[in-house]
Formats: sequence, structure tokens, C-alpha cells
Amino acid sequence: FVCLDPSFFMNRNYEMKTFTYGSQELQLLCLSSACTDYDLTGQLVWPGAVLMNTYLSEHPETVKGHSLIELGSGIGITGILCSRFCKEVVLTDHNDEVLEC
Ligand SMILES: C[S@@+](CC[C@H](N)C(=O)[O-])C[C@H]1O[C@@H](n2cnc3c(N)ncnc32)[C@H](O)[C@@H]1O
Repeated sequence: FVCLDPSFFMNRNYEMKTFTYGSQELQLLCLSSACTDYDLTGQLVWPGAVLMNTYLSEHPETVKGHSLIELGSGIGITGILCSRFCKEVVLTDHNDEVLEC
């Protein structure tokens, strides 16, 4: 058994990536993979978010004019997309590293 310093798992080599959903383009800093041991899962965009964003870009009326809170937003791709349609959006995440990104 070896106890490793948590910083061993840290990757801050974020890349600016462009995501396109319909007519909406978002540029966000993120990784392509992340560590699950210290719940750094918010450093990347998950397939579920891609599905959700595709749906929302095709059906913006779902959220249009609403106030919305995103729990566990990670890099915030879904909340930021929603901010294009919503009255107001609050993004939340419990991980300081993810929030800093
Ligand atoms: C699997 S990632 C999903 C990130 C983003 N929503 C996506 O779909 O790409 C889960 C996110 O939820 C956050 N999270 C997990 N438990 C949480 C909690 N109790 N409160 C707030 N955020 C939490 C993690 O830090 C992580 O950013």
C-alpha cells in the first residue's frame, strides 16, 4: 500500500475547446480525461452533458425565460449554454479545483 499526495493526481493542462450545439458555440477550458479518486470529474465534459446540450439547443423553449440552477456543473457547459436562453442561471460545484478552472 502506497499513500500518494493528492497533487500527484492533479492535471491543470487545460485546453481551450470549442463546442457547437446548433447555432450556439461555446469556448471553454477543459481536459479530455480526469481523475475520479479526488472527484475531479468536473474537469471535462461528460457524454450526458453533450446529449443534454444537443437536446436543449434543439428545444430552447424548454428553458427559455426561466431561472435555472445547475448542480454539479463541472466546467459549466450546460449552464452556460442555458444562459443563452434563460432569464438567469446559477452554476454550482463543490470542488474548488473545478470552480477555479
Ligand atoms: C460527472 S461530473 C459532471 C460535470 C458536468 N455536469 C458534465 O456533465 O459534464 C459531476 C460534477 O458534480 C460535482 N459534484 C459531485 N458531488 C457534488 C456535490 N455534493 N455538490 C456539488 N457538486 C458536486 C463534481 O465536482 C463534478 O464537477
